Amino acid sequence: MRTIIEPFRIKSVDPIVMTTREERERHLREADYNLFKIPARAVMIDLLTDSGTGAMSAEQWAAIMRGDESYAGSPSFFVLKEAVKRRFGFDEFMPVHQGRAAERILFHLLGGPGKVILGNTHFDTTRANIEMSGAEAVDIPVASALDPSRDEPFKGNIDIEKLKLTIRARGAVNISALIMTITNNAVGGQPVSLANLRAAREICHANGIPLFLDAARFAENAYLAKLRDPELSSLTIAEIVLKYFEPCDGFLLSAKKDALCHVGGLLGIRDPELAARARTMLVVTEGFPTYGGLAGRDLEAMARGLEEAIDFTYLAYRAAVTSYISHGLITLGVPHVRPPGLHAIYIDAGKFLPHIPPGEFPGHALAVELYRIAGVRGCEIGSLMRGDNCTLQLLRLAIPRRGYTQSHMDYLLEAFEDIVKKRGDIRGYRIVDEPPALRHFTARIAPIGNLSVARPPVTQVSH
Ligand code: F0G
Repeated sequence: MRTIIEPFRIKSVDPIVMTTREERERHLREADYNLFKIPARAVMIDLLTDSGTGAMSAEQWAAIMRGDESYAGSPSFFVLKEAVKRRFGFDEFMPVHQGRAAERILFHLLGGPGKVILGNTHFDTTRANIEMSGAEAVDIPVASALDPSRDEPFKGNIDIEKLKLTIRARGAVNISALIMTITNNAVGGQPVSLANLRAAREICHANGIPLFLDAARFAENAYLAKLRDPELSSLTIAEIVLKYFEPCDGFLLSAKKDALCHVGGLLGIRDPELAARARTMLVVTEGFPTYGGLAGRDLEAMARGLEEAIDFTYLAYRAAVTSYISHGLITLGVPHVRPPGLHAIYIDAGKFLPHIPPGEFPGHALAVELYRIAGVRGCEIGSLMRGDNCTLQLLRLAIPRRGYTQSHMDYLLEAFEDIVKKRGDIRGYRIVDEPPALRHFTARIAPIGNLSVARPPVTQVSH
């Protein structure tokens, strides 16, 4: 098989500032060992997130110049309206400034004390918005989602039996929605199967519970579904995307991911009465319904991005990047969530650093080490981000869309080659102080102990 090449050529570049290990050591100290506080200029390869960090195409930049900034009824809104109808089959939608704005509006309407919002696994801002409304966020992933080494095609699925049991236990009247996140970011960017989505829809509809898609990575989910579900293999990505949206009562979408934008989001609601209430909130907190917190140019970039996202060649390149890294890591013996999704590689830091207990944040320890030796920034998804009772201790290396080349990934793998050799020396971390919510963004963190101090060996892995 031939090499899958990056399906673009580069015509505008952003220089990478090379740093020394000593400089990075200083940045770490100044940032209180919190990688969110390191200036991006001091990062050589930034794999913190795939959100808003992709490269826009020449067509998107051209569309930006066509953006019309009228307050009401901008032609750019109608360009986006057509794209949303064509790609998702929704006649009505609201633009919002990013995904979490859609979350805030929806859960303000559906949440509140005593209410429960179910999900295959809520993303952290989704959970935070549900909880801020006073409602409870309940995750019902399939069991295999919690086993990084299990190679199954649809580990993003919801557990259908548990869904039924939860509805019975909580009472359907108290459950105001089910959110199905495609792909399931929180469990490793794993896809949801169409059969699972449809089964969940049947149960929801039998119980009067609306079903919403969190569709930030709708195109990557469709690509994986095409490859892994024989019933979908002959369909185009566009056809598969429509099939996923069809059974849903609404959707939330962060346009900073698959829609290839730097900012933006969408909220789609089929129920006209609920949509009207959402639109009222939109006007109060985001903007007039034809721009909703975005500039006209952002609407144009999104409309174009929705088209580019479903290009098979582009998605095959996305898949080639993560499978390339995954193969490299397998060769080096670095455990990670299998099979890899498209937007990120999730290193199983709990297993890789078994001498660091979950309470000393092995995912964060690995993130700091990767930055220290190579200037690569990843993001802990484990006890630091989620709280202390987290099952999986992961380091996410998210791949910005169309931003890096294969040699950047080779450099990343070389860094892991070094890390593997010294993994026994990597120390744990402790929190010095933290804010009341989303602590990983701003907490002050410090290394524990000293390399020369012997620590009792810990043989048990964290999951
Ligand atoms: N839903 C999912 C599945 C997400 O991954 C994100 C963001 C959001 C909602 C919120 O969207 O950022 O536009 O407000 N995920 C980013 C990440 C931040 O790094 O995975 P937003």
